[in-house]
Amino acid sequence: MNISKEAKIYIAGHRGLAGGAIWRKLESSGYQNLIGRTSKELDLTDRDRTFQFISEELPDVIVDAAARVGGIQANNSFPAEFLSENLQIQTNLMDAANKYEVDKLLFLGSSCIYPKFAMQPIKEDSLLTGALEPTNDAYAIAKIAGIMQVQASRRQYGRHWISAMPTNLYGPGDNFHPEHSHVLPALMRRIHEAKINNLPEVVIWGSGTPRREFLYVDDLADACIFLLNHYDSPDTINVGVGSDVSISELAKLIADVVGYEGLLSQDLSKPDGTPQKLLDVSRINSLGWEARTSLDDGIDKTYRWFLENEANVRNK
Ligand SMILES: NC(=O)c1ccc[n+]([C@@H]2O[C@H](COP(=O)([O-])OP(=O)(O)OC[C@H]3O[C@@H](n4cnc5c(N)ncnc54)[C@H](OP(=O)(O)O)[C@@H]3O)[C@@H](O)[C@H]2O)c1
Repeated sequence: MNISKEAKIYIAGHRGLAGGAIWRKLESSGYQNLIGRTSKELDLTDRDRTFQFISEELPDVIVDAAARVGGIQANNSFPAEFLSENLQIQTNLMDAANKYEVDKLLFLGSSCIYPKFAMQPIKEDSLLTGALEPTNDAYAIAKIAGIMQVQASRRQYGRHWISAMPTNLYGPGDNFHPEHSHVLPALMRRIHEAKINNLPEVVIWGSGTPRREFLYVDDLADACIFLLNHYDSPDTINVGVGSDVSISELAKLIADVVGYEGLLSQDLSKPDGTPQKLLDVSRINSLGWEARTSLDDGIDKTYRWFLENEANVRNK
């Protein structure tokens, strides 16, 4: 079942947070035949161009890490685009992969596919057992359709396709927009700027009480390669660390790493989202994989990367 080091692997979204880390990890693990295209070079919402690309390249393996991704604010403001673009990207890619008989594919979903009030920690089989969190339901429905397409392609065409559901990711290459990015990089950016500008206070959105789990993106990349080599099942599989922190605790950890000594306060007019999101990672742990990077270490590495790349970090 192991992927040969010569296999041609197409990483869709290879410049993104997840795709970039997966590319680096594949490269450092000796996979020599990697291909990637930016969204400018190949817009995966363009069905004809996607089919043409797959027919020309005929990859052995596809990792689908391409998506329109954003934090609570972006998801809440642009649900139509989050639904439509993600459905188009994944459907075009998987339809082309079926037409040109790509045997292995890994589809990356997200923990937001699970019901808002799923029992914690969230097991894979809680999928479709309750209503979704409304602030990201459009995105979640697109991702659930992706899982179904993986399962249907296995059933109908016998493909060895799999899907994995990572928890919140962070690390080098993240989007650091102070409002439109995810909570960890957004907080890092805002706390860093407060320190630089000697601001007395940083306002944290919401009550600070929701609990979230954060996976360092290099660990996600390691898990993806592990799963491509060791997992072959229609059932989706969670990828996380198995522990969570409150947003207030997270802000404090970031402030410690950044060296910010001002006040961290709450803006209760901003939505909290799901009260807790912690994945049950016993399925992937039982296969022999677990996350290695602690949250302190990961935040430290991410902040160093941010400082070294501040002029060029993604910021949209
Ligand atoms: N970030 C998280 O916390 C998180 C958590 C769980 C799951 N995930 C999943 O991981 C996957 C990747 O997320 P990410 O955080 O790495 O996102 P990201 O950093 O925003 O990267 C997304 C990538 O998708 C590409 N892309 C977007 N639209 C495209 C299009 N129309 N055509 C071709 N490529 C397109 C972008 O390419 P260009 O750079 O060339 O424009 C970008 O490289 C997603 O499926 C997401 O659901 C992410």
